[in-house]
Amino acid sequence: MENTEQKKIKKKKLVFAVNGERFEVSKVDPSTTLLEFLRTQTRYKGTKLGCGEGGCGACVVLLSRYDPVLEQVEESSVSSCLTLICSVNGCSITTTEGLGNSKSGFHPIHQRFSGFHASQCGFCTPGMCMSFFSALLNSEKSQRPDPPPGFSKLTVAEAEKAIAGNLCRCTGYRPIADACKSFAANVDLEDLGLNCFWKKEESKDVKLGKLPFYNHQNEISTFPEFLKAEMKPKTLLDSEECSWYNPVSIEDLHSLLESKLTENGAGVKLVVGNTGTGYYKELEYYNTYINLRHIPDLSMIKRDTTGIEIGATVTISKAIQALKEDGKDGFPSTILFKKIADHMDKVATVFIRNSASLGGNLVMAQKNHFPSDIATILLAAGSLVDIQTGRRRLKLTLEEFLEMPPCDSKTILLSVTIPSWEPVKNISSENKTELLFETYRAAPRPLGNALPYLNAAFLAQISSCISSDGVVLESVQLAFGAYGTKHAIRARKVEEFLAGKFLDVGLLFEAIKLLREIVVPEKGISHPPYRSSLVAGFLFDFLNPLMGARTRILSNGLNGNINGFAVKSSRPENHFDQFYQTKGPGILSPAKQLVKVNRQFHPVGEPIKKVGAEIQASGEAVYVDDMPSPKDCLHGAFIYSTKPLAHVKGIKFNSTSLPRGVFGVISVKDIPAGGKNIGINPSLGYEPLFADGLTEFAGQALTLVVADTQKHADLAAANAVVDYDTEGLDAPILTVEEAVEKSSFFTIPPFLKPKPVGDFSKGMAEAEHKILSEEIKLESQYFFYMETQTTFAMPDEDNCMVVYSSSQCPEVAQMHIASCLGMPEHNVRVITRRVGGGFGGKAYRAMPVAAACAVAAHKLHRPVRIYLNRRTDIVMTGGRHPMKINYSVGFKSNGKITALRVDILINAGISEDFSPIMPYTIERALKKYDWGALSVDIKVCKTNHTSKTAMRAPGDVQGSYIAEAVIEHVASYLSIEVDSVRNINLHSFESLKLYYEKGAGESLEYTLPSLFEKVAVSSSLQQRIAEIRHFNNCNKWRKRGISRVPAVYEVAVRTTSGRVSILNDGSVVVEVGGIEIGQGLWTKVKQMVAFGLSPVLCNGSEGFLEKIRVIQADSLSLVQGGLTAGSTTSEASCAAVRECCDMLVERLTPVKERLQKQTDTVSWEMLIIQAHHQSVNLSASTFYVPDSTSKYYLNYGAAVSEVEIDLLTGATTILQTDIIYDCGQSLNPAVDLGQIEGAFVQGIGFFMLEENLTNSDGLVVSEGTWTYKIPTIDTIPKQLNVEILNSEHHEKRVLSSKASGEPPLLLAASVHCATRAAITEARKQLLSWKGSDGSCSTFQLKVPATMPVVKELCGLDNVESYLQSLLSHQ
Ligand SMILES: Cc1cc2nc3c(=O)[nH]c(=O)nc-3n(C[C@H](O)[C@H](O)[C@H](O)COP(=O)(O)OP(=O)(O)OC[C@H]3O[C@@H](n4cnc5c(N)ncnc54)[C@H](O)[C@@H]3O)c2cc1C
Ligand code: FES
Ligand code: FES
Repeated sequence: MENTEQKKIKKKKLVFAVNGERFEVSKVDPSTTLLEFLRTQTRYKGTKLGCGEGGCGACVVLLSRYDPVLEQVEESSVSSCLTLICSVNGCSITTTEGLGNSKSGFHPIHQRFSGFHASQCGFCTPGMCMSFFSALLNSEKSQRPDPPPGFSKLTVAEAEKAIAGNLCRCTGYRPIADACKSFAANVDLEDLGLNCFWKKEESKDVKLGKLPFYNHQNEISTFPEFLKAEMKPKTLLDSEECSWYNPVSIEDLHSLLESKLTENGAGVKLVVGNTGTGYYKELEYYNTYINLRHIPDLSMIKRDTTGIEIGATVTISKAIQALKEDGKDGFPSTILFKKIADHMDKVATVFIRNSASLGGNLVMAQKNHFPSDIATILLAAGSLVDIQTGRRRLKLTLEEFLEMPPCDSKTILLSVTIPSWEPVKNISSENKTELLFETYRAAPRPLGNALPYLNAAFLAQISSCISSDGVVLESVQLAFGAYGTKHAIRARKVEEFLAGKFLDVGLLFEAIKLLREIVVPEKGISHPPYRSSLVAGFLFDFLNPLMGARTRILSNGLNGNINGFAVKSSRPENHFDQFYQTKGPGILSPAKQLVKVNRQFHPVGEPIKKVGAEIQASGEAVYVDDMPSPKDCLHGAFIYSTKPLAHVKGIKFNSTSLPRGVFGVISVKDIPAGGKNIGINPSLGYEPLFADGLTEFAGQALTLVVADTQKHADLAAANAVVDYDTEGLDAPILTVEEAVEKSSFFTIPPFLKPKPVGDFSKGMAEAEHKILSEEIKLESQYFFYMETQTTFAMPDEDNCMVVYSSSQCPEVAQMHIASCLGMPEHNVRVITRRVGGGFGGKAYRAMPVAAACAVAAHKLHRPVRIYLNRRTDIVMTGGRHPMKINYSVGFKSNGKITALRVDILINAGISEDFSPIMPYTIERALKKYDWGALSVDIKVCKTNHTSKTAMRAPGDVQGSYIAEAVIEHVASYLSIEVDSVRNINLHSFESLKLYYEKGAGESLEYTLPSLFEKVAVSSSLQQRIAEIRHFNNCNKWRKRGISRVPAVYEVAVRTTSGRVSILNDGSVVVEVGGIEIGQGLWTKVKQMVAFGLSPVLCNGSEGFLEKIRVIQADSLSLVQGGLTAGSTTSEASCAAVRECCDMLVERLTPVKERLQKQTDTVSWEMLIIQAHHQSVNLSASTFYVPDSTSKYYLNYGAAVSEVEIDLLTGATTILQTDIIYDCGQSLNPAVDLGQIEGAFVQGIGFFMLEENLTNSDGLVVSEGTWTYKIPTIDTIPKQLNVEILNSEHHEKRVLSSKASGEPPLLLAASVHCATRAAITEARKQLLSWKGSDGSCSTFQLKVPATMPVVKELCGLDNVESYLQSLLSHQ
């Protein structure tokens, strides 16, 4: 079709606004996303790319559309990484820069995020702010009562939910939640955490007065007036290769689909929200895009007595709203609609639901076998669909639709109808009938953004039975989905089996048995037995409460106690208190933060906010990928190996010519003469930059594709076909067992080898009991920094190279680049300003990215940048070390351990990297208890995997965990309280000194025993143990556990450089070797400079912090910067600048004294001018070398965690954690608190959630946000209380401070141990059901203790066992 209408509109342009600024685009590739456009075509770089698949929220913006009929602006958050630019025609986009900025003033959201310490590396912050802003705006549009001044119409629960889909890897979420909650109308300011606005003891009024004011009536306008005149949907855009159509009627669409343009459907894409590409990555280009959004018939919602019909393009958010709306169009919302809406609320995230259409979801389920929730719940509700193929319109049941052959690109889903269900009266009896509907999903995250392992929905009509106490199942509809089959199904056989029967234990048991035969997870899907057990669990959960329920039906109808029975929805009262105070509970409970401020070294010790937090929130902070690209800049993407050991015979692209936009391919051949093929320097364990004919692990860089845009480079790399040949090669070594067999080990330097403590044989001989040769395994963990690896390299004059690298060690990057390019290091300048999270992953692992980028720039004589996509980052960057552990332990009957032997095989991957240091770090953490005698043997296995590297608390977290696993095992063996075993084996100071020769320090510093005691008191441990016992006795399907765990963590302070320079106007510029990676290093350094210069600050240090700026690290400006790692870089950098300040003070003091003799008041500025005149050197630099006697020291902490597990799904909820951590004299308690909470939550990820899965070739397959699940706000402790102990002064540590970056991660083992305690209870119960005496067998709880792991230990057949036990007692 080329009808006149379409010809007429052919020359149209896209018009939209970004932050009020008009944008007109006449030629654009329709596959361009809004994010790509914002980041490459506008000056707004605040919106970040974190995943590109809708799973992280870093790219969230506010999208505003104007409805000319209603004269209303509709605003919603969307993920700009999936939104196509052509679909925003006529829309207005607001990014975080649009809310406010450093010039025109920050928005209160920016200010409060900053003041509540809710931004560390800051990479997630703009997306968080926008998700929250959207919720805030929309709440203001509601008819709710006006909130008090300074607050919004949001409730606390809504404020938390607003950011539930956004990921943050640094903060641990609590402070982010507090910043958001501070806007809620029903917040109690006392419940909010540590912030820099008020002091705890101040009154509520004072607190409110200090909070940056939010005027809910004065929100910024998100839709500029000029755009209202541009509302023309009929835009067709033509670029050279492809076109975008906006049909405005079904007829229009039909003609388009019948036209030549779309002949045979090839290259045509129907699109609504385009969120489907988040899951099904698009690796091809389309010729024609047809946007269905402007067809009114597809976007209507109709409701009558028979049900609700929802157009296919209606977004999930709007569908939820419609399903919940009571009385709209004169028809009440039914409980079934509400349940469907509640379930939909857990699909994806708010910002996905706002653009994802209902139809898109169902078509993905039908066509691509997407594990949809919506298909399952609508199937149970007996929904119908309208489809159009050609001129034919069909009405089908959803079941028929799902079972059809996959829709072709010319089949359109028009609408879905959900019938209104009314209980059908059983004519033959006078019994009361009720309708039940319930939906289920078991997913790693309760609030969504996690696909379920299984989902289900059940509809049942029941009636009471006259003859006995119970109900008859008149009819049932059972739908199951997301377990690997093509689509959701109805369990018809079971439905028929149940229909018309009296419900009793026997019936339920038989039904579950039958169900298990029907709902069988398909081959190839993960955790089939677990998924199958969920099938039983869900049906049990639905029907079990109905047994013996007749009396209740007859008396007052079943209500909230039993799932699914109608509870009349109450309309909100139009009264503030009643409305806001009755709004349900939030995700998190108020938490306590106890910090003591030490003013002795003021302003060091003050909990001041993080340097640059506001500009991080407003998007003005510049990360490497935010730097504008020069005109001729190119972009690189790695082609990596998918085989562990193979010859690479060739690499081809699908087409004969170079793919779109590709400029060339950089390989080992492009290393310049004199340069070396070095990805990782031999001193760290050699790894080539590019494979040279032979690939030695899956994930190894083969070549770098260079193209005009990052997208073109990524697509070309993803489409490349590599020809491998394994002939003549041995089998790769993938496991530690294979490594042992082939003696494939790395050498451990003698000084890092574990040394025995005491005499193991003697210790064993003293033991009354022994556990011999027990095995545990620990897997890897991926960094998941929000900013992936990135570098920007620019050739400079005279054969120099300037490289901006997101790196934890620019100095090492400089070394690598110079080696690769064969040039002296002084030709290479590596600059790092800020890093969007590192966690160890941007130390050595940043080197290959920096070097490859520089090689490409050098070869092509053009600027080149690389921003790894998330998948490549996960596959190539390695992570934490997996290992296999074997232990033997001897102990007395009271739990006192007399000897421990641990043998460990570490899977180090292909090169040494950090691995030879691992034995040392594992052993030092293992020594946290007094084992009597300790003997450790560790082998570092060389395998054909990516090199594993130092991830936050490397080795320490494993060593500490192994210690806890041994303790738990001993307690279980002896059937005694595990807490008492911990207590009895804690070190005395004497034994501590024996175990930690270097770091034990003085006896006063050994605070662990008192911390351990203190945390028991502050968390009311004993009382809660009793409460938990009671809870467990009263509850069959939920069990609780509690655990107290200590942590001992040795750190070493390293050398680093620093420079402090005072400029003419008295402002101060500071350079340090340490890199700001979100850990607050710059903030502490600034405080230290202000303290260090205080002796010459004539008018006090008030306001002096503003005069200090810490600047980017530059490897040619400040040499020997060293590595930012190991938790001590902040203090070392502080020590360095303090030395500089001491030098400056020494030089300035005589000038000051002379001035003071001349005049009464000497200002700082005056002093500096005088110093200039007197030619005083106002720049001081140093290389800090720690005192050998205080280089090593021990950090202590203790935590108590309580969890609740669900025995039907294996879900673990962390109810509460209490941490006490010894920070010495904290340099900045707010920063340290952030480190403690953030590290702890990262530890929860390791212990409970994050599965780093590989295929049989060792290629990582959990390669994105869909499969790799880091903690979110709904998976952290509901209440996280932290106390920072300001312990003894220590003259040799940096102002008596201690580290906080890594040690608290170890404490997350308390959650794992508490889960084990809860599982123990579940197993006791299971054994009693099975007729055993109930005494519990010992078991190992895997790490991570995911839902399937927990459920397996609680009994995959626990439901059947329970029912059988009931039957046997009947
Ligand atoms: C991060 C994330 C998490 C998610 N989590 C869940 C979850 O937990 N549970 C769940 O059920 N879903 C989940 N989804 C899936 C989500 O619901 C779908 O991606 C979305 O509904 C698709 O709608 P869309 O408008 O974006 O479709 P698009 O992406 O625009 O289209 C999807 C497909 O359907 C076709 N199509 C769209 N509309 C029609 C139509 N009317 N007729 C014919 N063909 C059509 C398109 O051609 C395309 O092939 C998630 C998605 C994301 C991105
Ligand atoms: S970048 Fe868009 S959601 Fe992650
Ligand atoms: S502050 Fe959230 S990811 Fe770093």
